[in-house]
Amino acid sequence: MKAVRKSATVFLGGGRITSALVAGLRLSGYEKPIVVHDRHPRKVLRLKQQYRVVVEHSLGKAVQQAHLLIIAVRPNSVRELLDRIGKISHPVTAVSLAAGVPLSKLRARLGPPVRWARAMPSPVCRSGRGLTAVVFDPELSRSEQQKVKQLFARVGLVVEIPENQFDAFTVTYSCSHGYHALAVLAAAAEKLGLSRRMAQIAALHALTDGLIAWREGKTSLQNLLHEAATPGGISAAAMACMKKSGYTRAVERGLRAGMARARKNAKRR
Ligand SMILES: NC(=O)c1ccc[n+]([C@@H]2O[C@H](COP(=O)([O-])OP(=O)(O)OC[C@H]3O[C@@H](n4cnc5c(N)ncnc54)[C@H](OP(=O)(O)O)[C@@H]3O)[C@@H](O)[C@H]2O)c1
Repeated sequence: MKAVRKSATVFLGGGRITSALVAGLRLSGYEKPIVVHDRHPRKVLRLKQQYRVVVEHSLGKAVQQAHLLIIAVRPNSVRELLDRIGKISHPVTAVSLAAGVPLSKLRARLGPPVRWARAMPSPVCRSGRGLTAVVFDPELSRSEQQKVKQLFARVGLVVEIPENQFDAFTVTYSCSHGYHALAVLAAAAEKLGLSRRMAQIAALHALTDGLIAWREGKTSLQNLLHEAATPGGISAAAMACMKKSGYTRAVERGLRAGMARARKNAKRR
């Protein structure tokens, strides 16, 4: 019988985040074999054509090829997937992307020789400009931890954070905040009479230009806020009114709702 090489990066689940990660990895020049298993194999055909992934129809065969096993199914599918895997007989580093599902639950469903890590990337990794938080099971060797970091470093910055901060990171680091802010600002500008195109351009530059400069510069956020809003001026009036209308409260409540959802994911048996 032909021996299976356990050297591939294998994604279980071929949806949104897998396609962004695979695109980012290939963009970075990652040439190692990538295998994707999804229960809807047709869905991942595009990944095969565009990014040279191997589509593996059999879950067992996909797992057999894995050195790095990326769990990329929705949190409510994790338990079923791990139960279907059952047992793995060779050492594997498994990286769960599932929001809210703690290492303790993952370990309890799939134990040694599997060692666990969690990673929280965003779809921005498609462009190589992402940020990924990681946390490791203490049993995972230093060299395996390095391998996981190196993989995600190909698609952006990597930060290691304690697991008890993972949910707060997850809800804060979502590119949806930027898209949402852009959509709300542009829609409000349109109501003032700007054309849709100009409203989107003005809103996009308002949100990004200063932030890119802040990211690359040394000025404090407090100083930039001070500089951008002349006392008694237009920006100061707009900011004060937004604050009074509940802007801060709305953001805090939004993040709390995200945290509550993450805790629900953790409680799923
Ligand atoms: N999207 C993001 O921005 C993002 C960012 C960071 C982390 N994550 C995490 O990444 C995970 C995946 O998110 P996603 O947005 O990529 O989800 P998604 O687009 O729904 O993709 C998940 C895919 O996995 C399939 N699947 C589920 N159970 C399976 C099983 N037992 N065997 C084979 N395939 C199975 C799903 O099929 P069905 O549709 O039939 O279930 C679906 O095609 C989530 O846990 C999420 O928390 C997502």
